[in-house]
Amino acid sequence: MKKLSKPKQIFLYIAPFPALAFFKIWAAGSAKPASLTIIALLMLAYCAIMIGIAYRWDKPGYFDWAVTTYFAVVSCSLLLWPLWASALFSKYAVTGIYACLFAAAFIPPLFGMDPFTYHYAKKYTPEDAWENPIFVKINLTMTYVWAGLFALCLLMSLYPSVLTRALIPLALILGFGLPFNVRFPDFYLRRLGLPSLAAQRRMAQQEKKPSERPKNLPSSAWEAISHMPDVFNVQAAGDLSANIGFVVSGSETFEAYLNIHGGRCSLEDQPSHKPDITIRTPAEVWLAISRGERSGQEAFMHKAFTAEGNLGLLLRMGQIFSAPSSVASEKSYTPERSPVAANAATEHKDESMPSNGKENTMKVLALNSSPRTGRDSKTELMLNALVEGMREAGADVEVVNLREKTVNNCIGCFTCWTKTPGVCDHKDDMTKELYPKWLESDLVVYATPLYHYTVNATMKAFVERTLPVLQPFFEQNDEKTRHPMRHEPPKAVFLSVAGFPEPAVFDQLSSWVNFIFGRSKRLLAEIYRPAAETMTFPAYKEKNQDILDATKHAGRELVESSGVSSETMARVTQVIVEDKETMSKVANLMWKTCIAEGITPREFVEKGLIPRPDSIETFMLIMPMGFNPNGAGDTKAILQFNFSGDVEGSCHFKIENRKIEALTGIAENPDLTIESPFEVWMDIMTGKADGQQMFMEQKYKVTGDLSLLMRMNQLFGK
Ligand SMILES: Cc1cc2nc3c(=O)[nH]c(=O)nc-3n(C[C@H](O)[C@H](O)[C@H](O)COP(=O)(O)O)c2cc1C
Repeated sequence: MKKLSKPKQIFLYIAPFPALAFFKIWAAGSAKPASLTIIALLMLAYCAIMIGIAYRWDKPGYFDWAVTTYFAVVSCSLLLWPLWASALFSKYAVTGIYACLFAAAFIPPLFGMDPFTYHYAKKYTPEDAWENPIFVKINLTMTYVWAGLFALCLLMSLYPSVLTRALIPLALILGFGLPFNVRFPDFYLRRLGLPSLAAQRRMAQQEKKPSERPKNLPSSAWEAISHMPDVFNVQAAGDLSANIGFVVSGSETFEAYLNIHGGRCSLEDQPSHKPDITIRTPAEVWLAISRGERSGQEAFMHKAFTAEGNLGLLLRMGQIFSAPSSVASEKSYTPERSPVAANAATEHKDESMPSNGKENTMKVLALNSSPRTGRDSKTELMLNALVEGMREAGADVEVVNLREKTVNNCIGCFTCWTKTPGVCDHKDDMTKELYPKWLESDLVVYATPLYHYTVNATMKAFVERTLPVLQPFFEQNDEKTRHPMRHEPPKAVFLSVAGFPEPAVFDQLSSWVNFIFGRSKRLLAEIYRPAAETMTFPAYKEKNQDILDATKHAGRELVESSGVSSETMARVTQVIVEDKETMSKVANLMWKTCIAEGITPREFVEKGLIPRPDSIETFMLIMPMGFNPNGAGDTKAILQFNFSGDVEGSCHFKIENRKIEALTGIAENPDLTIESPFEVWMDIMTGKADGQQMFMEQKYKVTGDLSLLMRMNQLFGK
């Protein structure tokens, strides 16, 4: 299809209509047979010139032919039956126009011809899509809607009034027909979960760019094949290891073998091992394919060349050989498998990602699969920081909380691989909204709480529903069987939080993430935060702030350099509670308190509770956690506690330089001594009893500096 300039396109679109309008106006003014015949013949001549111009620039559309036929019929009838015809056409010229339009829309598809909208749609749709049943369906629907509109106009025009002949038809065409034309294709595509037309054009251009780069097209099959390593796309090849053999016949006869291994591609004249696929082709056929003059798929279907072995490789050829070698050789990194440590390899800059300061803004889709929100959700806490950094670096980030969306489970029907390739059968938020967004993103952040050592079910359901991006075929890569990709999927960042403190809790998740997303070097970083539940503990405020600052910085780095540096990752994953045993004890006290009170952790936080100690040892742990250095100021004091009752024993706390130290036993010179049954003091400490009231009722005794007792809330509290 020829590429026409906009003015020429517009001229061709509107060219038939002035003839119709002029004839209508003339016919309304003069019904004289002679003058009408002359005008009809003149309009016929105009149409002939218009058809000639259309052929010269592009080719005529059905409307051009319909209008030309109309004037041919009008001219003939006026010549043969001047009186009868002039009376008819002066009265029903408008009806004739609508009849033309209706015929051009309705008749061709009945005879298996292309619908009239193809003529226009093909100018705006990538060529690959023309044979697609979805493209056909959209065009047929639009064609029949237009045919219906024209039929309605035709019927109305039989009644002679400006309203029925001009105003209502015009309102229908402008108010319904044109907006329908503009909106329907994208509406239909979105309903099927496919990218919009604009996005498809963008994707097609991106795919074409590399192959458009070579200015000199090959002049022989040998030149074409020997230059294939130069356009090897290491990203598209991923971890592919394969040998592709060419047995060329006809005007050139030679054998050549492309050996792909470890992210590199080399040309050999002997196979290093049995080729995974052998392509037998006449030189002219391969040359035409390489020059883009013939479609590889079409040539294969018509048996212009044959291929034996792994046919999946043939399907991927277009992707694998589509980049300049300079890009290929620079991109030979392997994402590190260490679960928690920085994805050090990603410090490397990925040129394929748009970054701030460049013309294109990086489009990021941040998926949050946590069912919790606000202060409760550590996934949200971490994701918010990451997203803030990304936005600061200029990325266009959309956060989607999956808990608010309907993403049905994949039901394994494989409709998306067979009946509607690339389109899922479910009609839910995933199909309608999320899958198209996912496909159009440059980068997707998968943020999930760690559940049973892996992604939670919500995130798993999402990932499973990206099945349409794969093709059904089996392909062998390095002994592993995989499916080839249908579209290039977006780059990925994984973010997860866990309750347990060991970094190794993410091992299973990381192994899966690397297997699924590490393919084609798609995985830019894994950001894993263990002991995440302590991230809101006031006692670790400073560390937690540093973790969030580092996560925000990681967001910046991802946008600016497509990776996260090891220094930043070390800060993100820093240890919050040094002593794991202490952490377990505090966690257990919290759970015991929740069970005793019959409340959930959220209610525990909402009520402002603290874990209730059940021994001198745990009391010595919990008291310092509530210590407020600002409230203490320059206080220097020793607080002594002597407990009786179910838990007996003594301990004391030294407060100095805004720090607190817990010590067992009895201090030499305490400033304040509290003697209390253990349970009474625990009730006061956890807010179940009023300290002053208990003191009045002499439930506990105090000796020493009473002002320290008055300041208890200031020393231990927010
Ligand atoms: C069903 C379930 C399973 C969990 N499994 C694990 C686990 O395997 N390992 C772990 O360390 N934490 C586990 N946790 C704790 C969560 O990872 C932790 O509470 C995290 O902060 C939850 O994320 P959120 O704060 O965004 O909700 C689990 C929690 C739930 C509710």
